[in-house]
Amino acid sequence: MARFETQVGIVGAGPAGLMLSHLLHLKGIHSIVLEAKSRAYCEERVRAGVLEHTSVQMLREAGVGERLEREGLRHEGIELGLHGVRHRIPFVELTGKWVTVYGQQEVVKDLIAQRLADGGDVRFECGEVSLEGITTERPRILVNREGHIDEICCEYIAGCDGFHGICRGVFPEGALSIFERSYPFAWLGILAEAAPSREELVYMHHPRGFALYSMRSPRITRLYLQCAPDEDIAQWSDDRIWSELQTRLSCADGWGPTEGRVLQKGVTGMRSFVAEPLQFGRLFLAGDAAHIVPPTGAKGMNLAFADVHHLAEALGAFYGDGNGDKLESYSETCLRRIWKAQRFSWWMTSLLHRFENEPPFDRKRQLAELEYVMTSRAAATSLAENYVGLPLEA
Ligand code: FAD
Ligand code: DHB
Repeated sequence: MARFETQVGIVGAGPAGLMLSHLLHLKGIHSIVLEAKSRAYCEERVRAGVLEHTSVQMLREAGVGERLEREGLRHEGIELGLHGVRHRIPFVELTGKWVTVYGQQEVVKDLIAQRLADGGDVRFECGEVSLEGITTERPRILVNREGHIDEICCEYIAGCDGFHGICRGVFPEGALSIFERSYPFAWLGILAEAAPSREELVYMHHPRGFALYSMRSPRITRLYLQCAPDEDIAQWSDDRIWSELQTRLSCADGWGPTEGRVLQKGVTGMRSFVAEPLQFGRLFLAGDAAHIVPPTGAKGMNLAFADVHHLAEALGAFYGDGNGDKLESYSETCLRRIWKAQRFSWWMTSLLHRFENEPPFDRKRQLAELEYVMTSRAAATSLAENYVGLPLEA
């Protein structure tokens, strides 16, 4: 058995784990990141694409915003579509803020490169991870790679291992309260080699189901279709996907998505989930390990960054002057913002999707709400201020 020492052991090299490790490094705190998958896998996993202004500011202030600054697409609004007509929600006019479109895998690439350039300890394909002694002063992470065991002795452990990770399961029976909601649909997403034919995202309500037009770069578009939760991707040829996207997204003014080679496709489930509290003993959860939002509000990666911002601040205060107050209140601080993002993500999802067999009253109410958001400055402002991101400090 090989033995290693660190101040903070971090499980998971997604946006949460990598950003936490980097922020701790800036504060002179040592960490070891343990990641089950390979570096290439982490860098190629296509997921979220919208960064709130607070996330951009965090990346920039942490010195990892250079490529983001160069290649990120500044979006000053989004469009909502109903009955084939688009209506713009002008973020800058309503809030003075905007969002930046920059793929999650690009953020991950930038963070990995920075950690490695700084001599950071990030261990990919680490093997099977388990935790011990989380209520003691020396919690340990055991890593088993084909029978060879590494023991990582820590002072704190951050569970940044996503929804399917192991850290949340280490909380003892009864220590966690779970709040969740599932939705009777999923998203079929594609990445396409096609120049975007619009400058901003289009969130389209359609009788056949929701569709989203997004992008990654001047050459690449990202599109989503509402589908069944158990949708079999094998049933969706590229032609069928494009035909359905054209049907749902095409507008009365003649606009429709430009088509191109499909580079990647997949189905993403939809759920709202919060596990409370985010801390037990010396184990702290951050990001998807503690909460999941349906993607309609583009909040997942942004919430992960907000959590690790607070966790890094709290650990910084503890190691800086021995003050553990922020560690004590970490869970409560994060949960206030998490629940606001949960509410917004649920609301955007309810507003835009087709609900099979819903009572006619609810369908009429949904359409009225969408028209209200499209025509009322007050309602549009509420959408805009949540979409660009609520302030980090409550
Ligand atoms: P993750 O990115 O999940 O990172 C966790 C890391 O931990 C992973 O690298 C994983 O390999 C690793 N890990 C897991 N278990 C272990 C273990 N036992 N030991 C070691 N390492 C482990 N959000 C949006 O806003 N818009 C979207 O379009 C969108 N699409 C998504 C599509 C998919 C398929 C998924 C799963 C999520 C999507 N999200 C989207 C959500 C967003 O990507 C997440 O909120 C974000 O990745 C959270 O970051 P994280 O670091 O907390 O978790
Ligand atoms: C993207 C994903 C989202 O969930 C969203 O709400 C907006 C954009 C994207 O992948 O580009």
